[in-house]
Amino acid sequence: MSFDRLAKHYRWMEFVLAGERLQRCRTAFLRQAAERTRVLIVGEGNGRFLVECRRALGRAEIMCVDASARMLALARERVVRLGLSVGQIEFVHADALTWRPPENTFDLVVTHFFLDCFRAEQVGRLVGVLAAAAREEATWLLADFRVPERGLSRYRALIIHRLMYLFFRTATGLSARRVTEADGFLERHGFRLREREVSEWGLLHSDRWERTEFG
Ligand SMILES: C[S@@+](CC[C@H](N)C(=O)[O-])C[C@H]1O[C@@H](n2cnc3c(N)ncnc32)[C@H](O)[C@@H]1O
Repeated sequence: MSFDRLAKHYRWMEFVLAGERLQRCRTAFLRQAAERTRVLIVGEGNGRFLVECRRALGRAEIMCVDASARMLALARERVVRLGLSVGQIEFVHADALTWRPPENTFDLVVTHFFLDCFRAEQVGRLVGVLAAAAREEATWLLADFRVPERGLSRYRALIIHRLMYLFFRTATGLSARRVTEADGFLERHGFRLREREVSEWGLLHSDRWERTEFG
């Protein structure tokens, strides 16, 4: 799977198809994580979340991981273009399925529109590896697509997902066919859902998960 081919089109495609909706999901709970100092962003893409993270968490060290060299280059360019410092940002070109992050290190993990790229067993493995990279007390911000349980909004979402997966499977070689809910995996690793915003007739969600010593 590679997003290299798509990288330079990603921004305008997002603008045309979703306007600012995805960005609102990405940044929904950033303010609540403002005190975090070691950040791991996985599957960052072209840097739209990264720049807001850089602005909001001025002191933080950020590790930004992506399997697409072009996405990483765009993310770096965006930070520089907006006059922000790349000094405390480490860009890591790696496949998250095989990459091993340092353990017990990060107090903020971010996976925005990333886990939807993977099959269920891969999501389980990824959440396990990233949870081990997180400190005992950590925040996890996650935005993604979802399918409502019932009603017309469910059928609407199923059609949108079908088209989306068809496109991404063709353009990037994605092997996933549907979105896998990560809730159970996160709970298994001690994270508890603190806030969730659902938008666009149930198509999108933005979550803040916390792991604390009190569970
Ligand atoms: C759907 S895009 C989402 C990008 C961005 N996070 C957003 O909010 O729009 C998925 C991103 O994950 C990256 N990615 C996909 N598979 C990956 C993997 N196995 N390891 C690391 N990054 C991966 C892609 O290169 C791409 O940048």
